[in-house]
Amino acid sequence: MLGPPGAGKGTQAERFAASRGIPKISTGDMLRQAVQDGTAIGQLAKETIARGELVSDDVMIGIVHDRLGLADARAGFVLDGFPRTVGQATALDVMMDGRGPLIVIEIVVDEVELVRRLSSRMVCDVCGATAHGVDRANGVAADRQCRLCGGKLVQRSDDDDAVVRDRLAIYRRQTKPLVDYYQVRPTFRSVDGLQPPDRVAADLAAAIEAAGSGRTSPGGRPS
Ligand code: AP5
Ligand code: MG
Repeated sequence: MLGPPGAGKGTQAERFAASRGIPKISTGDMLRQAVQDGTAIGQLAKETIARGELVSDDVMIGIVHDRLGLADARAGFVLDGFPRTVGQATALDVMMDGRGPLIVIEIVVDEVELVRRLSSRMVCDVCGATAHGVDRANGVAADRQCRLCGGKLVQRSDDDDAVVRDRLAIYRRQTKPLVDYYQVRPTFRSVDGLQPPDRVAADLAAAIEAAGSGRTSPGGRPS
């Protein structure tokens, strides 16, 4: 899943992975878990995430390489938040050797909507789950709890307005070039992420189906 902060990568990756019985591999979630657990990688990543900057390619490639080697990823997986640089994308191509096809879905959402979504997102401070349909703009009751574990709902540490601006700039500079990197491939598709989540999910499933079977022309960006 390729797309800017707030495009809905995590939301859609979770739905699609659950519907296919394959793991969702989210590098952001893995890093936040490492921070919470106080591991060496977590200590290294904590400040970087808080500033909205990217963790180094070497670290991220190592994490994903090890995760894809686990048994549950053998029959397929959904990657959320990786790759984010051309260096990560070329490393992923090597990891995919003999496993393909790698289907790349770009979720397209304009920046006004991205800022709106991130400034009102609520997540669980225990398990990190996003509280869909609950946002600060609509006045979240202070005692509102996570639907999965009962934890407290809070703002994600990097959803502060200034950090969101930096994350969007970093996306434009370092990750958007991946659209050019991938869009020449027949397994690249774009979906309109401005629609309601159910519509995005339906378009995304259709795009993955078409890309996997090579049915329609390459690219597939919305006109
Ligand atoms: P990461 O966790 O990957 O964050 P991100 O890419 O900035 O994306 P978000 O998680 O903020 O947004 P999303 O697209 O998942 O949207 P969501 O579904 O939540 O990375 C965090 C940090 O970790 C990075 O900044 C970096 O420091 C580090 N990192 C991670 N991977 C790395 C890598 N590979 N290399 C280097 N560093 C790395 O949706 C957002 C909100 O919108 C939610 O509230 C949701 O409910 C709502 N929403 C979703 N879909 C819709 C819809 N269709 N309509 C209305 N609302 C919607
Ligand atoms: Mg996410």
